[in-house]
Amino acid sequence: MKRILSLSLLAAACTHAWSASPAQPAVKDHFKNYFLIGTALPVRHVNGLDPKGDSIVSLHFNAIVAENCMKNAEIQPEEGKFNWTDADKLVKYGEDRGMTVTGHALIWHSQLAPWFAKDKDGNLVSPEVLKKRMRDHIHAVVGRYKGRIKGWDVVNEPIEDDGSYRKSPFYQILGEEFIPLAFQYAHEADPDAELYINDYSMFLPGKRRAYVKIVNDLKKRGLRIDGIGMQSHIGMDYPDLAEYEKSIEEYASTGCQVMITELDMSALPTVQMGADVGSIWKMTREERREAMKKLNVYPDGLPEDVSKAWNDRMAQVMAIYKKHADKISRVTWWGTHDGTSWKNGFPIPGRTDYPLLFDRDYNLKPFMQEIIAQ
Ligand code: G3I
Repeated sequence: MKRILSLSLLAAACTHAWSASPAQPAVKDHFKNYFLIGTALPVRHVNGLDPKGDSIVSLHFNAIVAENCMKNAEIQPEEGKFNWTDADKLVKYGEDRGMTVTGHALIWHSQLAPWFAKDKDGNLVSPEVLKKRMRDHIHAVVGRYKGRIKGWDVVNEPIEDDGSYRKSPFYQILGEEFIPLAFQYAHEADPDAELYINDYSMFLPGKRRAYVKIVNDLKKRGLRIDGIGMQSHIGMDYPDLAEYEKSIEEYASTGCQVMITELDMSALPTVQMGADVGSIWKMTREERREAMKKLNVYPDGLPEDVSKAWNDRMAQVMAIYKKHADKISRVTWWGTHDGTSWKNGFPIPGRTDYPLLFDRDYNLKPFMQEIIAQ
């Protein structure tokens, strides 16, 4: 009995160490009259492999989204063969904690199962075949969680930076129609679910024009669309925050909720996708090691001045969200703590980045400590 008691005391002490001190309120409570505070969860977290992370998520967040387990290639890797296990666990994880659960992402050109838009010879399928596959997929996934998932990222990243349609298989086969069709199918599957369109770099004028048009077209057709998701994978030198704020206002003018759906801010120098990333793969191991010295500049932690600049800029971003809380329904971080961020591997694997709300020691970043102490 004595041993069990000491272990439970140790566990309690550890839990206390991870959670906020009584003096420091939970982030979600500070913002409860502004918007939901969410985080993307990886499968390892939902499977209980990150107890410290769980302590943080349970205390500070009131919304979650599946980082990967509900994506097409993960949930239906073969036609008619579904992997529900991790998605079921994520939904239950959220329900057990009274959290709002968002489904991500029904129609996306990335992480798309190889069979979905192609026939057995590798050619694009006909419009009729693709429409049936889209409808069956959406009905199966949305239908399974009917009444349990509040809203869905129905279509993800269909538009290029200049406002043109991405030449995805969906666009190549169905043209612009694939977007209204996806929203129609999702609404058929769960008439009460909120439906969103979601993309990155939503501060660009081209995207802004395109999405305002798309949303207005969907509404004209009498289709349900509730929200516009601004992913917000930002950096220290982009976007211009005035342009970013203008986008929030213009998206809100459509009558949709604005959601910040995948917030993270890289603390590293912005990598030029073409120049830096393309070339790095052509380098020798030695050349790559040299290049990484320039691209992975803070492998052992941020210098004080960089950390301060990061926190100052993030405080400005949060102030914009608070100012427009009447337009913004949710602010979701794309991950809980720095060590789990996709940005440690993108656009170049092996970088150490510092983009999220909690650091690698599960400490709340200073900018947010100051906000919730107010
Ligand atoms: O599941 C496989 C696993 O079986 C395999 O062993 C492992 C190693 O190859 O890969 C695993 O799949 C990885 C998947 O994440 C799940 O961990 C993929 O390789 C990897 O590419 C994938 O990365 C995800 C990325 O989307 C894919 O584009 C990131 O975790 C995820 O954070 C990121 O999220 C996207 C949003 O969904 C949409 N907006 C952009 C955002 C960042 O790309």
